[in-house]
Amino acid sequence: MPQSQEVIEQLESLRGEFDALIAPLTDEQSIRHAQAQFMGKKGKVSLLMKQMGKLPPEDRRTVGAAFNQVKTAIVDAVAQKLDDLVQAAAAADLARTVDVSLPGREYRQGHVHLLTQVWNEAVEIFAELGFEIALGPQIETDFHSFEALAIPKDHPARDMQDTFYIGDDIVLRPHTSPVQIRTMQNQQPPVKIVAPGFVYRRDDDPTHSPMFTQIEGLLVDEVVRFSDLKGVLLHYVRRYFGKALDIRFRPSYFPFVEPGAEIDMQCSFCIDGDPSVCRVCKGTTWVEIGGCGMVDPDVFAHVKYDSEKYTGFAFGMGLERQAMLRHGVNDIKYYYEGDLRFLRQF
Ligand code: DAH
Repeated sequence: MPQSQEVIEQLESLRGEFDALIAPLTDEQSIRHAQAQFMGKKGKVSLLMKQMGKLPPEDRRTVGAAFNQVKTAIVDAVAQKLDDLVQAAAAADLARTVDVSLPGREYRQGHVHLLTQVWNEAVEIFAELGFEIALGPQIETDFHSFEALAIPKDHPARDMQDTFYIGDDIVLRPHTSPVQIRTMQNQQPPVKIVAPGFVYRRDDDPTHSPMFTQIEGLLVDEVVRFSDLKGVLLHYVRRYFGKALDIRFRPSYFPFVEPGAEIDMQCSFCIDGDPSVCRVCKGTTWVEIGGCGMVDPDVFAHVKYDSEKYTGFAFGMGLERQAMLRHGVNDIKYYYEGDLRFLRQF
């Protein structure tokens, strides 16, 4: 057999080989790869053609024509194959049936946690009265948590606010009152702040949790009276509960105020009903919501304020209690368990 005939037959067989190779392929990448294996620089067809030079000159024309034919056939086959893929994809797309009667997928939107709602609302009400927001660390020094608030180390008032000790002088703050101290250390009167935040106690029952939330208030200026305190708290209670509830003060003792008082508000549950069956106020018509008083001169001394010149009031209230009273939540733990059946109600 003449040499040229042999080359032409090899070309033909390579063409068959190529067709068989791409027939099962279903993606462009592998088709292109197959093409390169034959037509690329080191492709099978290309290598074969390198032998053209060895052929007698009179044969080169026929072999060259055969080469071009195979080359065109491969390029066409690739184009055809790719076109088939596009057509098949389009056909599959058209054949797709959509069941428009299926219910749509529900998109559940989250919302602000009840406690955060109370927090925001409380801050907003006080902001309307001109109070600024102050924040302090949850890991506090003993000095800011107790000493500067006139509660020395062996003072019995520490029992009421026993907390978690991280070191001898570092505690998880048992109340937001240390923010009073930090604020006064950093600024001169007039001071008018509220400080919302998490606090920690060694307490655990249906109305107490080891971690809970308070809002602290402090107003210091040249002439601040107890009646100012009453006006602010009365406004707050009425705005937050949306009812003309009254408040009252019961003399009480907190080392950092003098005089000091517990703040009671009229029970929002039975105000329009029968107090004798009310489980919230136990028939008393009043519920306690926090503590307050006029800032003790001892506290001013710790922050180097002149207590001859300045007076001030302070208060602290638990935020969980407020929302419990407004919404009828009967266990403080619901706030922290993350149970959606509870959270979705608010
Ligand atoms: N810090 C007190 C507590 O957690 C509450 C309190 C009472 C805050 C009297 C005050 C205050 O600012 O004047 O029990």
